[in-house]
Amino acid sequence: MSKRPKISVIGVGYVGLCTAVGLASRGYSVVACDIDVEKINKINRGIPPFFEPGIQEKLSESVQKGTLKGLVGETDRAVMETDFTYVAVGTPSNSDGSIDLTYIKSAAVNIGKALKQKTDYHIAIIKSTVVPGTTQSVVLPIIERESGKKCDVDFGLCMNPEFLRQGSAFQDTLNADRIVIGSHDTQAGRRVEALYCEFYSPQVPPIIQTTLSTAELIKYASNAMLATKISFINTIANICEKIPGADVQVVAEAMGLDKRIGSQFLDAGLGYGGSCFPKDVKALIACSEAFGYTPELLDATENVNKKLPIKVVNLCRQQLGTLKGKQIAILGLAFKPNTDDMREARAIPIINQLLEAGACVVAYDPVALLTAKAIFKDSICYANSIAGCLKDADCCILVTEWPEFKKLTPDFFNANMKQPILIDGRRIYDPQKFRKKLKFSAIGLGQ
Ligand code: UGA
Repeated sequence: MSKRPKISVIGVGYVGLCTAVGLASRGYSVVACDIDVEKINKINRGIPPFFEPGIQEKLSESVQKGTLKGLVGETDRAVMETDFTYVAVGTPSNSDGSIDLTYIKSAAVNIGKALKQKTDYHIAIIKSTVVPGTTQSVVLPIIERESGKKCDVDFGLCMNPEFLRQGSAFQDTLNADRIVIGSHDTQAGRRVEALYCEFYSPQVPPIIQTTLSTAELIKYASNAMLATKISFINTIANICEKIPGADVQVVAEAMGLDKRIGSQFLDAGLGYGGSCFPKDVKALIACSEAFGYTPELLDATENVNKKLPIKVVNLCRQQLGTLKGKQIAILGLAFKPNTDDMREARAIPIINQLLEAGACVVAYDPVALLTAKAIFKDSICYANSIAGCLKDADCCILVTEWPEFKKLTPDFFNANMKQPILIDGRRIYDPQKFRKKLKFSAIGLGQ
């Protein structure tokens, strides 16, 4: 293996592309494969296939310098030309909450077939989120069967979960809190560690070496913990709403000052969405159930989260009496700011319930309008500006806390809406200031 290893990445979603661009931007030679022709064409033109701050410049720079190239399929070529192969394909949810391993299995088959023709030692690294046991009992036998080779002897197999957040995905890749490397044998684990030591030098984050299944569980446990923290503070928000004068934001601020608790992920609001927390909590529950253990705490985390969209629609109903024929402005559609991703976005159940109740919905989002149009088609109206969204509205629900929404004043809502009624679903407005000038309610705010 040469001093600077060559890398291939299979699957260029957020995780795969950030890994590929991160490595390429630091001079590694990277090949990124995906079956999606359009995605690869964009990558080869230096254009990210999704909105993600900070990645555009580094991607086009890497493509121009020739350190990154995209291939449609051609996993065999990617494996043959490189020393390490990251697998970062999707693991979507099945209807019972378990994960669908179709793409993982096909990546393993392709890697195995390529390894059959390769004489050099190669390391496959699973980065996709997979339930404990998958790398050992699904990926490993497939690669061995397809390649006719032996794990640990002819090739290495590691599990290296990713902890990046959408919206700051590229920065998170370059500045990791920790690196987790699960391996089947220590040789492969050590080589992956060496790769990261070189990549992050001189500021190498703590590296945890462990077994494949512990690495897999660390990813789920981390996401489940963060999701539980959110459902915990939303539970406190529900309690605050019953207590006159109570405010969850102040409770969270004070709690967060306790170093044992920490201030992050204590923002009460409409709960968690996105492609990870909902799917991962469900998958951990399903995996746990399959092992014969019912994880009651995780069930509660999920249940608290599920009820939040219903709660906000009820708040809206309380303000307006009936929702039938009322015009509701939705500010924010993406599952969180700085992304155009609407997977499991809270806006979806909220809008669906408003429509079911006969309301008319006008929505605005700085970047997710195209994504929203594919979901809601012509069942709602789309505004091109905040003012356009508020025009003639009977009530406004703030769903996603984009920075530009934070700057809005009570006078702005008063001037633009038919009836100035605002529900702050993300606690971005000062209740003192807003309550004075309009009908204002917010998550976790006692009346
Ligand atoms: C999450 C984790 O934060 C990452 O560490 C992990 O790598 C990633 O999942 C993954 O598994 O790939 P992400 O889904 O991009 O990252 O977004 P987060 O910033 O974690 O937010 C998730 C959801 O929680 C959003 O809907 C957000 O609005 C909500 N949230 C977050 C709250 O409601 N309150 C908070 O205090 C924080």
